Amino acid sequence: MDKCDRYIINGGIPLKGTVKISGAKNAAVAIIPAVILCDEVCTIENVPDITDVTAICNILKRLGVKITISDDKSTLTIDPRNITSRKATNSHVRDIRASYYLLGALLGRFNDAYVSMPGGCDFGIRPIDQHLKGFEALGATSTSLKEGVVHVCAEELNGANIYFDVASVGATMNVMLAAVKAPGLTVLENVAKEPHVVDLANFLNSMGANIKGAGTDVIKIRGVEHLFSTTYSIMPDQIEAGTYMAAIAATKGDARVLNVIPKHLEVIIVKLREMGVTVEEDEDSVRVFSNKRLKRVNIKTSPYPGFPTDMQPQFCVLMAIAEGLSKLHEDVWDNRFKYIGELNRLGAKIDVVKDTAYIEGVEQLEGALVSATDLRAGAAMVIAGLCANGTTEIDNVAFIERGYENIVGKLQGLGTDIIKSGPPNSPDFPSSDKNNGCA
Ligand code: EPU
Repeated sequence: MDKCDRYIINGGIPLKGTVKISGAKNAAVAIIPAVILCDEVCTIENVPDITDVTAICNILKRLGVKITISDDKSTLTIDPRNITSRKATNSHVRDIRASYYLLGALLGRFNDAYVSMPGGCDFGIRPIDQHLKGFEALGATSTSLKEGVVHVCAEELNGANIYFDVASVGATMNVMLAAVKAPGLTVLENVAKEPHVVDLANFLNSMGANIKGAGTDVIKIRGVEHLFSTTYSIMPDQIEAGTYMAAIAATKGDARVLNVIPKHLEVIIVKLREMGVTVEEDEDSVRVFSNKRLKRVNIKTSPYPGFPTDMQPQFCVLMAIAEGLSKLHEDVWDNRFKYIGELNRLGAKIDVVKDTAYIEGVEQLEGALVSATDLRAGAAMVIAGLCANGTTEIDNVAFIERGYENIVGKLQGLGTDIIKSGPPNSPDFPSSDKNNGCA
């Protein structure tokens, strides 16, 4: 895929029909490397066809893991028996944030792991001190080597009590991986409660692990000697679902979002309703319907069950076209407002002061040339383009395809006018001077 690919959207068409949500990115990128801990072949279903999954599979293949992909790309058969390396240090490893799960998985299997410090979306400093604190409590030592490689190793791992200073998704899941085969009882406190934490625990338990309490503040893990073959289906992606729900609301559409767990969408549904949107919940789908201007709202992001930071940019678009002044406070990441300048290019009126965006709603956004500055910011640009007047071109869409399966096809299925195209020729393209060789 060319980094400079772009989407061209002719906006103003209400989303209609149905869209089916894929498996959850942030569960998949942990569950796939977790198979390293197993002594047998595993089958993972409902895997999203996104580039972050391709990246994690490529990293595993380089370690000697055999992966077979079904024709529709949604099922992976993973054979970790003949893994040949404990070193995930090539340049691809830095491309995705989730490569940090290799630390926990390799440590849990071999008591030894070398992993390049991960990359991912740039929201300011993204430390892994809580991951290392957990590994060390289990008996490992960690060393920072040259070129950003982290080495963790242990004579042996043993169950321990660990209190996390922040409720980190990555640290909770990574330490869970390292602890699952460590003899004795591990108690993790102040853990993250996100649905993907529960999905990883369910997956590990389906291989024979003994993990209790995932989804609450305390997780108890009793180490087991072996993990066995399983077939496991990844849960639906809460953030992909929320993104389509926001897009339907932004375009005054009427559409049904299929293959969701409504419980995971609670706070998103509450905020949409507060903005005047009708949301009808079914067992595994939601209908979203809106036919009038959105009402203003205030939102503060926080860990699950709070409002997800990964929905912050998409809701910013809704606030940008709502009536009145909305306030959006980012409380998880230091620097997740880099996209605001792009949204203002489309006619939004947003000022950012420290961690808060003050959004004066406008009646109508106008199409423009914009850039996807990261994954969710890119999704926000798509929503903005769908509800704007005229044509919006978004470049850097490789960011979007890290986490949204077939977004162009799914949106076309909802009746919108969106296509994917090659690099732009226009010298006016906003990112032409910012991206390596782009434009
Ligand atoms: N933190 C620390 N120390 C650590 C780890 C985290 O101080 O050792 C801090 C972070 O700086 C941040 C907060 O804790 O302020 C939360 O970070 P967390 O560890 O929960 O984030 P993450 O595991 O790196 C995952 C998702 C992100 C999502 C966050 C928060 C994956 C691969 N990524 O990141 O997803 O924003 O949780 O929910 O699961 C996305 O999908 O677009 C995305 C960025």
